[in-house]
Amino acid sequence: MDVSTFCTQSHVLIVAGKGGVGKTTMVAAIARMAADAGLSVLVIELEGRSGVSDAFGHGDTIDYAGAVLSAAGANEVEEDLGPESEAPHIPPGSVQARRITPDDALIEYLADHGLRRFSKRLMSSGIIDIVSSAIPGIRDILVLGKVKQIEQAGLADLVLVDAPATGHAMTFLSSASGLLDAARGGPVRTQASEVVELLTDPVRCQVALVTLPEEMPVNEVVEAAYQLEDKVGVSLGPIIVNACYPPIRGLEVSAADAAESAGVTLDDDLREALDAASTFRRTREVLQREQIDRLDHELPLPQLRVPFAFAASIGPDELQLLADALKAGVTALPDTALPHTALPDTQAAVP
Ligand SMILES: Nc1ncnc2c1ncn2[C@@H]1O[C@H](COP(=O)(O)OP(=O)(O)OP(=O)(O)O)[C@@H](O)[C@H]1O
Ligand SMILES: [Mg+2]
Repeated sequence: MDVSTFCTQSHVLIVAGKGGVGKTTMVAAIARMAADAGLSVLVIELEGRSGVSDAFGHGDTIDYAGAVLSAAGANEVEEDLGPESEAPHIPPGSVQARRITPDDALIEYLADHGLRRFSKRLMSSGIIDIVSSAIPGIRDILVLGKVKQIEQAGLADLVLVDAPATGHAMTFLSSASGLLDAARGGPVRTQASEVVELLTDPVRCQVALVTLPEEMPVNEVVEAAYQLEDKVGVSLGPIIVNACYPPIRGLEVSAADAAESAGVTLDDDLREALDAASTFRRTREVLQREQIDRLDHELPLPQLRVPFAFAASIGPDELQLLADALKAGVTALPDTALPHTALPDTQAAVP
């Protein structure tokens, strides 16, 4: 499948998964891949610093107004963007990012509904805290309502949402349907209903789950996939298996034998260190293979495997490496990976 087709299967792609598995890094890599394919991308960060800007070499924290992370044909352009009403369609091949908080979304909502003069004062009086304790889930609806508005404004070919870690993501994504059941009418119900419409329409929104090729993250991602389909009704894209160690050939040969055939001599310490490193790596590769196979067996979704980048941190060079690996995985997907196939009825179907 070509990258453009893959990246435009849904307008919004929510990247979710267990804490620390690489959600933010994969958001950045997907954004890089999509922009390289000439698409316009808007990354949405939620509360808290997510680090997506670091991967693009953009040092500053992203705010509500947003910033350019990568302009078409040039990296590291720093530029603040104006308010939504003035925001033009993002140029093809570039990546912009915005950070959406419930407070900012509420101020904008109030301003859009003729309460601009009061909105700042209401916010400084801590009204959001009062409202959120009275209506659980309202913070999530405010943020997702804003995502929906951005999607409908058609500002970018792809809107990527860096979701919170799994437990919180499940609450975040199921708040709208919860509120829909609770609210009989009024603006909250309307907002919740529009968010549910977005989440349950596979052409508008999908979730890409990220995992590591390790036992606990694989267990969690299988469970999360079924819960997301059952509780949220959202469609799932391919599973991203992040930080896979690439296989190294020749590890089965001992350091002493390898040295002899190369005509070099090794002292004992070096030989032992090399043997220990090779044993570690072979064990890791076996475990990784087992977990990837198990995931494949338990979750009938295509997998995109991304390598571990051996670097102190992920900057633009490493990001390009990860984006290129993702692209290779996407290109190898059959076109038939497109239909939004539902998982088997229950997880019990898994042996
Ligand atoms: N493929 C990779 N190769 C090397 N390092 C990686 C890779 N993917 C992620 N990392 C590193 O792992 C750490 C966690 O990644 P990241 O912040 O993307 O995870 P996260 O799922 O967004 O975490 P959180 O749940 O805290 O938001 C970071 O230091 C990141 O640079
Ligand atoms: Mg993160």
